[in-house]
Amino acid sequence: MDFFEAVKARRSVRTYTDKAVPEEVIQKALDAALLAPNSSNMQTWGFYWVKSAEKKEALVKACLSQSAARTAQELVVIVAEPSLWRRNQKEMLRTLNENAGPKFALDYYGKLIPFLYGFQFLAPLKWLMFNGMGIFRPMARRPWSPRDNAEVSIKSAALASENFMLAISAQGFATCPMEGFDEVRVKRILKLKRSSRVVMVVSVGEANAEKGIWGPQLRFHREWFVHEV
Ligand SMILES: Cc1cc2nc3c(=O)[nH]c(=O)nc-3n(C[C@H](O)[C@H](O)[C@H](O)COP(=O)(O)O)c2cc1C
Repeated sequence: MDFFEAVKARRSVRTYTDKAVPEEVIQKALDAALLAPNSSNMQTWGFYWVKSAEKKEALVKACLSQSAARTAQELVVIVAEPSLWRRNQKEMLRTLNENAGPKFALDYYGKLIPFLYGFQFLAPLKWLMFNGMGIFRPMARRPWSPRDNAEVSIKSAALASENFMLAISAQGFATCPMEGFDEVRVKRILKLKRSSRVVMVVSVGEANAEKGIWGPQLRFHREWFVHEV
């Protein structure tokens, strides 16, 4: 399917049919998700395709038993996992060293990334430093706090979610992104770390022809949102 057709075909579907989604459809969409742009290429995300019937049942309940989850054939939970920075930073340094990467990249991943993601006890000092230097010159003011680190990962995971949903749409199936869930319970089901944030639970299936989509796609006035400044 052409890219713009896939974008237009994607709608949030709340009722699915009983048609199974072939394994390769999900795998292909997961591969597309992994190609999403992400902050510093640190890939601090996780994609949990819930296959166990027991976990799926618990997840539907944690999604407040909403019909987009209840009638879904598949459920994929997209998670921001900021704590993965340590493992991924090591892998990045290993890859750079193996390929004789440039010094600026080695410095970036060897020094700046640990300073930004680690040393969280220095958060107030980082804030003071970034904002103090920012008086005199343009300065990236964030991330200085653990919350900022989570936000960085959440942005990347949200982009991956969209790649995933468009890839499903391009293969003729439907999705619904959900944030209507009990995050504490979802984290417990998936045994996630305390610092992890559940970004979206995405349901997948074939749209029910009558009840799948609630109505025409509604967007407000373009000029409210698009600003050519
Ligand atoms: C972050 C996010 C959370 C959402 N959570 C839910 C949800 O919990 N349940 C639901 O039925 N739809 C959910 N939606 C779907 C939106 O309601 C939907 O995208 C919006 O109404 C626009 O419709 P469309 O996706 O068909 O264009 C969510 C969408 C996003 C992006």
